[in-house]
Parts: sequence; structure tokens; C-alpha cells
Amino acid sequence: MNYNNFTLVTNPLVKREITILRDKNTCVRDFRRSLNRLAFHLAVAVSENLELDEILIETPLEVTKGVKIKNSIVLIPVLRAGLSMVSSFVELMPNAKVGHIGLQRDEETLLPIEYYYKTPKNLEEAKVFILDPMLATGGSACAAFDFIKKRGAKDLYFVSIISAPEGIENLHKNHPEVKIYSTSIDRGLNENGYIVPGLGDAGDRTFGTL
Ligand code: PRP
Ligand code: URA
Repeated sequence: MNYNNFTLVTNPLVKREITILRDKNTCVRDFRRSLNRLAFHLAVAVSENLELDEILIETPLEVTKGVKIKNSIVLIPVLRAGLSMVSSFVELMPNAKVGHIGLQRDEETLLPIEYYYKTPKNLEEAKVFILDPMLATGGSACAAFDFIKKRGAKDLYFVSIISAPEGIENLHKNHPEVKIYSTSIDRGLNENGYIVPGLGDAGDRTFGTL
């Protein structure tokens, strides 16, 4: 499948971690660890978009050129499951600011219910990365971008572990400028709106609330 503005981040280590996430016998501890490691791979991949300023530094031997990150970076996890991706991103992007968006999918209508928003100022100057391990119908992702675009965000990225084709298409249709990074495109959605084969409910499996 070929999508515009979509990058599949994959390699043998990524494939092994996804296998651990999918396995229903994986315990909460191992589930979190694999999510963290996958988020690390994704953070490296999206860092290709960062720009550099040249600086001069002194080694013990001489003055030489180095670099610093030019961009202001804002990470916005979608609560709850997106929280599990923050620590890996912050590890690699230590100056990033972190906002939060609380969305809960209604189990009947599958529409997102908004319950919390707190984002940093000056979103218009930042590269803004929405973090959520699951892109299912795309309703939550679209609601998150609706919100941050109203607050001026322009340079937009969505970072997920597992994506359904339905969610990718929905996000492309409503927010075509968003660059999506994901470690898997799964087959589709079942009658309850769950990604198949998927990994189940990412929030419940991360926080042990099954
Ligand atoms: C999950 C997931 C996404 C959303 C994806 O969250 O983390 O936010 O569902 O589904 P969609 O693409 O169809 O909108 P959920 O609503 O289960 O909340 P939780 O993280 O608190 O469990
Ligand atoms: N949210 C999840 O956590 N899992 C899915 O499969 C779909 C939405």
C-alpha cells in the first residue's frame, strides 16, 4: 500500500517488538517495555525532519564545527495510551515541551469524547508531534489535529505504533498536510472498531486496567 505523507518505520527489531505487543500473553511490564522501545525507533525516524544550526565547539585539541537542533519541538500524547510513548521521545529530544490531549472513544459510536486539553504556547513556531499508539477509525487523531490547528500549529506529525487503513485514509482526508509515521499497517477494523490483528486496547494493556 502506498500512502502520501506516510512513512512505515520497520526493521527486524521493530517487527520483534510488535510481535511481543500483539501476543495476548505478554504481561504489563513487557508490554510497556516493547512500547517504549518502538517509540524509540519512531523518535529516531521522525528526527529526520529536524533542522540543524551550525555551532562552533572546542574539542580538547582544536575548534571544530558542531550542530544544535534549530526547531522548537512539542510532543502531545493522546491520553491515555499515548503517555507510554513520551519517555522515549523526551530521552532523544530533551528540550521538547509536552502538551496533553485527553480523548476517550465512545464504545458505541466510536466517536472521540474530549475530556482534557493542555498545550504549550507558540505552537505555530514548533514541530508538533501527536503521539498515540493506535490509529483505528482516525476519529481521535482528527479531533487532536482539529484542536491544535485552531491554536496555530502548522508543522504537524502523527506518530503511531499500529495503524488501520481506515484511520490513515480518514486522517489524510481531513488533515492532508500531516505526516504520519507508524511501525505497522494492519488489515483493518473489526465490527467493534478494533484494529485487526492489532494488539487489543492499548490503554488497558499499558496500564493494566483490563
Ligand atoms: C484508543 C487509542 C486512540 C484511539 C484510537 O484510545 O489510544 O486514542 O483509541 O481509536 P480511533 O482511531 O478509532 O479514534 P481509547 O479511546 O481506547 O482511550 P484510552 O487510551 O484511555 O484507553
Ligand atoms: N483503540 C485501541 O486501543 N485499540 C484498537 O484496536 C482500536 C482503538
